[in-house]
Amino acid sequence: MGGAVMNETMKVHKQEAARAALELVRPGMVVGLGHGSTVLWAVRLLGQWLHEGKLHDVTTVPCSMLVEREARALGIPLKQLDDVSRLDLVLDGADELTPNLDCIKGGGGALLKEKILAQATGKLVLIADSSKLSPALGTHWPVPVECIPWGRRFQAAFLESLGATVVLRRDAEGRAFQTEQGNIILDCDFGPIADPARLARQLAARAGIVEHGLFLGMAGEALLAGPQGLQRLR
Ligand code: 5RP
Repeated sequence: MGGAVMNETMKVHKQEAARAALELVRPGMVVGLGHGSTVLWAVRLLGQWLHEGKLHDVTTVPCSMLVEREARALGIPLKQLDDVSRLDLVLDGADELTPNLDCIKGGGGALLKEKILAQATGKLVLIADSSKLSPALGTHWPVPVECIPWGRRFQAAFLESLGATVVLRRDAEGRAFQTEQGNIILDCDFGPIADPARLARQLAARAGIVEHGLFLGMAGEALLAGPQGLQRLR
């Protein structure tokens, strides 16, 4: 019961954050869409606003098949990343973020394309419920590490040597979860991470690791909705 009430409250907060983010969208913009339930709320609201004429002339670039399907079903104009010359804004969720806007992403498994969108825009806006705010990355959420399947045991050993407890992500059927790129995800619990930039460098330097879920210095703004209302971090 408590959990159900909590989930309902979180859902409302995600919707509030998504609504606040859409207020940043202007006619003529090309908007990148990340992945996750908060982004899906933004997509639904965008569909509604376009339909009602509250917004017009907006093109979106989704980073996952799920978000693309939802946007297409709502009649939202879609393009692929290679078919646009700029991304005015990217809206994306986060699993854990610190007040300086560093965050962990990849809970939904879309971290690689999410990071490509984040690096392709000058303005990444994070949208989340305020429970995602944390004093240190790694406190509440493991770092997802996307690896090619070949040699995954050795990647896990490498990640353990960096101090992580490593779990292979599985899908609902108990099989190794597959990203849209056909890779696996190792969820790495480091506990609170003292030096995220150093860890990011170590992960980026390892062959076989395709991408990791540390998004450092990438977001320009976060919109967090919670019991105290809407918080805007910059
Ligand atoms: C997916 C992500 C999501 O943005 C993140 O997991 C947040 O999801 P939600 O909005 O459902 O809480 O990084 O790879």
